[in-house]
Amino acid sequence: MSMLKSERVKELISKEDIKRRVEELGKEITRKYEKLDEPLVLVGVLKGSIIFLADLCRAIDLPLEIEMMGVSSYGEATVSSGVVRITQDLVRPIENKHILIIEDIFETGLTLKYLMDNLRARGPKSVGVCTLLRKPLRNKIEIPVDFVGFDIPDDFVVGYGLDIAERLRNLPMIGIYEPG
Ligand code: IMP
Ligand code: MG
Repeated sequence: MSMLKSERVKELISKEDIKRRVEELGKEITRKYEKLDEPLVLVGVLKGSIIFLADLCRAIDLPLEIEMMGVSSYGEATVSSGVVRITQDLVRPIENKHILIIEDIFETGLTLKYLMDNLRARGPKSVGVCTLLRKPLRNKIEIPVDFVGFDIPDDFVVGYGLDIAERLRNLPMIGIYEPG
């Protein structure tokens, strides 16, 4: 079991629904970038996006490169602190490349805003955003997101890469966390 005995996770999005939507997103991304005559660079945001990225990249039928970047805005808490920190920078330049940020969730938007500003300053040809989840009720900053997997209610969710204090990333579904 992935959970501790005292806690519960109520299923919000099933494993099958995630699979279906990720396939669709892969097709949408393929369509949008198919005219590119160069590889698209997926920039996965550590660590929450790793499971999504692993599935999504195989649903995209294009020449791709994959890079990872680590940012942290939460610490161990379940509310965004608003302070974004780079915990691991890209190891290669993205100048003159088309990049697509792959994020697990867009809550307030502080993390994405920080990332987009930071990456834009490095001179890429374009910066797109694909987020698996979005919580529209909590969005503080308007960010044009090119691809969204699911809009979800204002609950704390875990699974499929999303964690609570580093745990439950390995749940195959996405669920609402109910502390015991
Ligand atoms: P934002 O900066 O408020 O948009 O928060 C984005 C980051 O907070 C994401 O990259 C996640 O790591 C984390 N986060 C936000 N909401 C949740 C949630 O419901 N479950 C797990 N992590 C979350
Ligand atoms: Mg997290």
